[in-house]
Amino acid sequence: MAQSGAGKRIVLTGGSGKAGRHVVPHLLEKGYKILNLDLVDYPDPKAGVTTLKCDLSDSGQVFNALTSHYGFEGYDEGAPPSPPDAIFHMAAYARNLLVPDNETFRGNVLSTYNIIEAGSKLGVKKIITCSSETVYGVCFSEGDTDYHSFPLEEDYDVDPMDTYALSKICGERTARTFARRYKNDIYVLRVGNVVEPHEYERDFPKHVGQPMTRKRNAWSYIDARDLGQICDLAIQKDGLGFQIFNATNDTITTKETTKEFLAKNAPGTKITREMGEYEAPLSNRKIREVLGFKDVHDWRKYYKV
Ligand SMILES: NC(=O)c1ccc[n+]([C@@H]2O[C@H](COP(=O)([O-])OP(=O)(O)OC[C@H]3O[C@@H](n4cnc5c(N)ncnc54)[C@H](O)[C@@H]3O)[C@@H](O)[C@H]2O)c1
Repeated sequence: MAQSGAGKRIVLTGGSGKAGRHVVPHLLEKGYKILNLDLVDYPDPKAGVTTLKCDLSDSGQVFNALTSHYGFEGYDEGAPPSPPDAIFHMAAYARNLLVPDNETFRGNVLSTYNIIEAGSKLGVKKIITCSSETVYGVCFSEGDTDYHSFPLEEDYDVDPMDTYALSKICGERTARTFARRYKNDIYVLRVGNVVEPHEYERDFPKHVGQPMTRKRNAWSYIDARDLGQICDLAIQKDGLGFQIFNATNDTITTKETTKEFLAKNAPGTKITREMGEYEAPLSNRKIREVLGFKDVHDWRKYYKV
């Protein structure tokens, strides 16, 4: 069977980070040629990915990087490279409290603006960018606050009170603006809490045993490898213009069914539709139905309750 990424050149940003380390191998396996734009090298020098050191908050660097070779072999092709077939933008300050709030805002908003603007103006037809679960307003709220309703879906009236989530909402609006102007596909992924393979054994005893510690993540998560699958599916699916997709795995991170758990632990939050037996409250219904996502790494495979 032909690989989905065969013959496609993509630019990843932030590929050296937590999610990128698992997204990159998945995409290489699918046959994509990858150029990674990051401030630091990709951790595995043997992976076959060139990292171009590029500060995405500098527009000039971003425009340049998008017409760069993917490695020295590019010089044998006899012509300067054209822009990529697709961009997957992950680079960010991935939460609050890494740098002061104003720098989180500056870095994230400018980086997302620059990559979407440069990609659109250079004719890139598919741009996928990472937003966050935090836009649903509970993750970094001051004190114990409630979601408006469950399931959390893409048409929710997002209302965070923190700077990181605000920077992500600015990214979502930037995507919408450019998709309208350039008529390209710009898909926003509202990424859930990212889980790496080694974190199941380490973290899930607490996640499952003390479930209220996971309220801020809406008792949901995304396996970093499954995020790679979502990226591949989003590249394959053309013609949707501007879209927002929650990017989470299928199921709630509790022992109880979703209905039992929410009735007991979120009694004041209204339920707007019948939910699946173990459906994640940060629901991935749209990526399943529209992109054909199939959950491969359910947490129950790696941590037995
Ligand atoms: N980790 C999570 O649980 C989580 C949850 C929701 C959303 N997200 C989002 O998913 C994406 C990936 O998250 P992650 O956990 O892999 O983050 P990470 O911090 O592990 O990696 C981010 C990468 O971006 C790079 N970077 C930061 N600023 C840059 C800049 N100005 N120019 C170039 N590169 C820059 C960093 O060097 C790093 O390699 C981010 O957009 C993040 O906001 C993550």
